[in-house]
Amino acid sequence: MQISVIGCGYLGAVHAACMAELGHDVVGIDVDAAKVASLSAGRAPFHEPGFEEILARNIDAGRLRFSTDYADLADAQVHFIGVGTPQVPGGYAADLQYVDAAVDSVIPYLKAHPDGPTLVVGKSTVPVGTAAALAKRIAAAGDGVHLIWNPEFLREGFAVQDTIAPDRIVYGVPADESAARASQAVLDAVFADLLERDIPRLVTDYATAELVKVAANSFLATKISFINAMAELCEATGADVTELAEAIGFDDRIGKKFLRAGVGFGGGCLPKDIRAFMARAGELGVDQALTFLREVDAINDRRRDHAVELARRAAGGTFLGKKVAVLGAAFKPDSDDMRNSPALDIANTIAGQGAEVVITDPAAGPKLAELRPDMTVAEDAHAAAAGADVVMLLTEWRQFRDLDPVALKAAVRTPWIVDGRNALDPAAWRAAGWTYSGIGRP
Ligand code: UDX
Repeated sequence: MQISVIGCGYLGAVHAACMAELGHDVVGIDVDAAKVASLSAGRAPFHEPGFEEILARNIDAGRLRFSTDYADLADAQVHFIGVGTPQVPGGYAADLQYVDAAVDSVIPYLKAHPDGPTLVVGKSTVPVGTAAALAKRIAAAGDGVHLIWNPEFLREGFAVQDTIAPDRIVYGVPADESAARASQAVLDAVFADLLERDIPRLVTDYATAELVKVAANSFLATKISFINAMAELCEATGADVTELAEAIGFDDRIGKKFLRAGVGFGGGCLPKDIRAFMARAGELGVDQALTFLREVDAINDRRRDHAVELARRAAGGTFLGKKVAVLGAAFKPDSDDMRNSPALDIANTIAGQGAEVVITDPAAGPKLAELRPDMTVAEDAHAAAAGADVVMLLTEWRQFRDLDPVALKAAVRTPWIVDGRNALDPAAWRAAGWTYSGIGRP
């Protein structure tokens, strides 16, 4: 099938390459010429395991190309919209300007297709109610053109796997039954390979599909803040949150995943999605339903402050004249994404309070050096830790989890480690002569 993907950021670029991998003929459209040039040359503009391989393979096979020109999508039957919906500056709501611009730009090219209806498929995370409004604009473009809302649940670091083998697929379809049936058949053909593998597909109305995405992210954020709140209790009582999480996780109804206490959640999705959800609930007059998300957000912010406090204590009460090595800048391992990164936020705060901060990250390091010439970026953990008074592990890359405490001790001035992700074995580090300080651990 001929497919276009509008917006070639993280979500769109991975989606375009994965659709080509499924055998479709795909064009990715983006207004950013530098991004299009990089993708066209088979170079990933971001770090994502496995992405560059499928990008290059499908470009070489002639199934995948990228363009800045919307005219190049004119022949496609299915147009995915994967542009960003960032937080509005100074507010909580989602900024829909990129979604609106994408829809405005695609409308002139929408025409009924000889093989059935033409589809616009929304993948971006949007406030509930957006799809219904967009559907009206798209319907005005002519007969035989429909909108499906098909939220994306991919995780950075697992983006390819999550696109080709998702836990579930959700279609929010038009209210009109024949439009719903016809458009669902087209999207089923796009995802035929996934559906043959019995990946669950749920068909809902627009509002439910939009809500599934923000509800899932809110639940995940709540789970992390729950365990971080328990970490606060553990800190007050001398209990160990890692053992607590393991013990409650044996209950299937709770589960073990997303119960890692630490410096909290960051990234381009969870923080802004829960805020946009609160803003939308306010507009709908049901803000009380999501008051708890304020607390989820506040607990998350407190963990960052707490990590700064642990480092200050380790530095002897003041950062002045002290060197702090920060291991990790990305918001999570296997990613070079530093949007709302707890690690970078903490590093900034500590530098602002007078410490000399040296930061290192296996993937985000080069980008950081370019973006933030004010920061000292080191090649690796050993280089960062040279002469340090405090070492902070803030993103749990394998390289950091596997550090040899004996070897690292030889590099530092004072062997004090703040393990902001509870990623290290306290006994091994203490045995090597370190003062170990974790999150919610005695
Ligand atoms: C998230 C959702 O998981 C994904 O389904 C959605 O499509 C986009 O948002 P992502 O932002 O890639 O994906 O990251 P995720 O793996 O969910 O982690 C988010 C943050 O939570 C990271 O900063 C991570 O370090 C933190 N986290 C995660 C914890 O602090 N503890 C945990 O137990 C799990």
